[in-house]
Amino acid sequence: MIIDIITLFPEMFEGAFSYSILKRAQTKGLVTIQLHNLRAWSSNKHKTVDDYPYGGGAGMVMMVEPVVKCIEELASKTAYDEIIYLSPDGVLLNQKIANQLSIKPNLLILCGHYKGIDERIRTNFITREISIGDYVLSGGEMAAVVLTDAVVRIIPGVLNDETSALSDSYQDNLLSPPVYTRPGDFRGLKVPDILLSGNDREIAKWRYEQSVERTRERRPGLLNDDCRQHE
Ligand code: ADE
Repeated sequence: MIIDIITLFPEMFEGAFSYSILKRAQTKGLVTIQLHNLRAWSSNKHKTVDDYPYGGGAGMVMMVEPVVKCIEELASKTAYDEIIYLSPDGVLLNQKIANQLSIKPNLLILCGHYKGIDERIRTNFITREISIGDYVLSGGEMAAVVLTDAVVRIIPGVLNDETSALSDSYQDNLLSPPVYTRPGDFRGLKVPDILLSGNDREIAKWRYEQSVERTRERRPGLLNDDCRQHE
């Protein structure tokens, strides 16, 4: 998979993509993540990419010309399956969307800044708008990190244990059951006996029941969610 990211702040991604599963996915050649600094497509000598909004008002707007030139140049080299704009106005990211994106070969992600991007980019070039939550970030970079992580970790072959992504919270619209590790007794706080029983069938049953109970308590909406996350 290729993930190209258009951003004004490529340095913000360096740490996020250099550790753990995202690093391993790149080392294994399962994903190539490329950062593109939008300023390189600015046509003025100050390398600005924003301007005042027509009609007045506070804040600056990312200009259509550099963004479109950048998208066109990248798209001439890579056939993108989706051109994604990260914005609080987008569709809320969930596991189902991450699953859908994880099987697409080529993604282009545009990180917005300032007051937003010129609407002509959204209507004519963007294929999907995604929000990572009902709150406003200072730019799309953090959201791009979240989206990239959610997508890349479930690319087939990225996780060592192929089943571990499947047992994640949300893959079955259920939250994960509680987990424990050694010691079995910490200051009198004990690990449930069932997990020490060695009875795999009973352990699986207990975990399922815990998942359902936890979901009913914390996120009851997930249980009657018609739109199953893995479809
Ligand atoms: N940019 C600013 N806020 C955002 C959000 N909540 N999700 C995605 N992109 C954003």
